[in-house]
Amino acid sequence: MEQQNLQNWRALVNLVRVAYADGRSLPRAPWDVLDIGSHTGGLLSMFLLSLDRGNVKSLAGVEPILEARKTSGHRLENSSFFGTIEEVPSQSVDIVVSHETIYLVPDLPGWMQELKRILRPTGGAFIALGSHGENDAWLRWKYRLEELYDHKSFEYQPMEILEMGHAAGFDMELSRLFPEPRRSMRYSPPEDGWGEFNSAEEALGHRDKKLVFTFYPKR
Ligand SMILES: C[S@@+](CC[C@H](N)C(=O)[O-])C[C@H]1O[C@@H](n2cnc3c(N)ncnc32)[C@H](O)[C@@H]1O
Repeated sequence: MEQQNLQNWRALVNLVRVAYADGRSLPRAPWDVLDIGSHTGGLLSMFLLSLDRGNVKSLAGVEPILEARKTSGHRLENSSFFGTIEEVPSQSVDIVVSHETIYLVPDLPGWMQELKRILRPTGGAFIALGSHGENDAWLRWKYRLEELYDHKSFEYQPMEILEMGHAAGFDMELSRLFPEPRRSMRYSPPEDGWGEFNSAEEALGHRDKKLVFTFYPKR
């Protein structure tokens, strides 16, 4: 999973950097950074690789899989990991990032209330998601994965996510993860229910389906 995600993580960290440089409503670095769905800490490591280390005060993650939390802890100094978002202390985070996780969250309005609780009022959350209701390829995989492995996920519409965030008290922004034209894609045969495309157009357009929802607490 890590290798194919390096470009995605780099693009997400870059989006945070651009938002900061553009004078978006983010606190002055160094930041307390939290990744929700941090798995083994790849995206958090990318934060250290891509930004001046002086911009990061602490790193933390929310990850339900114990083994993955342990691996991240060994990999990253000055870091802490939680099993659920409810365990994260209130008003403790400047920047939240998340990549391909909120489609696994059953109660998204409740999750957004938690996001509001943990994020400092000056902070921002950058939530990347390709697994949503406007991505036809993912919708096919979703149902196949459910049949094959009983893999439970939730079909959220991008507009619905924006509306929920607004109702939860956030100023919402929507970006593409890859704003620059990306016209090449490495072919790999479909496996385990993932990765099958019906056409070249669908395969080339797949990454363009990755959206980033930015949540800024309303002032
Ligand atoms: C598709 S993986 C993405 C992992 C990582 N963000 C990446 O980019 O490789 C989803 C991750 O979210 C975790 N997860 C599932 N439900 C979660 C929840 N409610 N809160 C936080 N993480 C969750 C899973 O254990 C898994 O590590």
